[in-house]
Amino acid sequence: MDTSPSSVRVSEGTQAQTESVMRLVEISAGYWLPRALQVVADLAIADALDQEPRSAADLAKSVGVDADALDRVLRLLASHGVFDRRKGKYVHNALSRSLRSDHPQSMRAYVRLVGLPVFWKSWGALEQVVRSGKPAVTDIFAYFKGHPEETEIFDAGMKSKAQSVISPVLAAYDFSIFGTLGDIGGGLGHLLQAVLKSVPKLRGVLFDQPHVVERVGVDETIANRLVLQGGDFFRGPLPRCDAYVLMEVLHDWTDERSRQILQQIRKAAPDKAKLLVVETVLPNESAWAAGHGEHFGNHLDINMLVLTGGRERTPDELAKLFADCGWQLARVIPTPSPYSIVEAVAA
Ligand SMILES: C[S@@+](CC[C@H](N)C(=O)[O-])C[C@H]1O[C@@H](n2cnc3c(N)ncnc32)[C@H](O)[C@@H]1O
Repeated sequence: MDTSPSSVRVSEGTQAQTESVMRLVEISAGYWLPRALQVVADLAIADALDQEPRSAADLAKSVGVDADALDRVLRLLASHGVFDRRKGKYVHNALSRSLRSDHPQSMRAYVRLVGLPVFWKSWGALEQVVRSGKPAVTDIFAYFKGHPEETEIFDAGMKSKAQSVISPVLAAYDFSIFGTLGDIGGGLGHLLQAVLKSVPKLRGVLFDQPHVVERVGVDETIANRLVLQGGDFFRGPLPRCDAYVLMEVLHDWTDERSRQILQQIRKAAPDKAKLLVVETVLPNESAWAAGHGEHFGNHLDINMLVLTGGRERTPDELAKLFADCGWQLARVIPTPSPYSIVEAVAA
């Protein structure tokens, strides 16, 4: 074997080149794997599999699809740790179990949400979005309003995604200092209900669009401390509360629309009120300079670009938005999740 310095250099160069080629192949083909996951979630394959191992042929019969195609899709997923493949049959593991509809922390709805045709069509139009700077959908919330089945998947998906955020938020912030907390654009109220359960005297107002609020299931242990209010956060009036939480709301909107929401909240808020924005916060330029630019928020940011025309924001960008609307950024509280709590006080 030739181990002279020049041949070692050549093979190191070849390996580096192969790695960079494969890295680009993996990035460009990255959507194959998520699509397989979404189809399996849509077909409720994880629901059809229980404790006993089952072959793809057997599962395919249960859900009415092609056995060979299903086997190949499941084999891909198993190679990435979703389902285990044993002797040609499939068994559950932790990841595949959380695709079941009856799992207490089910992620099925979230996976289906990301796989909705409106998401795929919009991402397919990314080039046009980049050329025009405009989202592929004119008004995603109007779209969902007109598509009740997809709305159900959207709301349930937001709820399942929120599980990764709620515990870290509860652990990172002391909500017991407030008398009333308003969750503006709170969806089905998963965050607010979790906060109310953990803080016995706190009262809450859940504000969202009327057709969303009417589908909220209220946990009876906190029902006497929770008010549901349907409305439009661009027009108000919003409830008067000691503090407001906006989880993944501002990122849906342009700066101009976000300012309208922040102004409506400021109008309703008493002096000394606090505002808690729960979102992924993008790294500032200084973080990039220190080599810390990688963040889940960079992915979510493109999803917002494509679907809503909104954006994820850096701390500086949020501070500017707040300052325009009578709020002052007080601190950014990181949580063990990719989400931070950005606290602002009424200025
Ligand atoms: C991305 S979801 C976030 C839901 C929830 N805060 C969470 O993080 O799981 C945005 C929410 O804003 C609500 N929304 C959109 N437009 C609204 C409007 N004009 N007035 C009130 N709520 C609105 C939607 O119904 C949806 O529940």
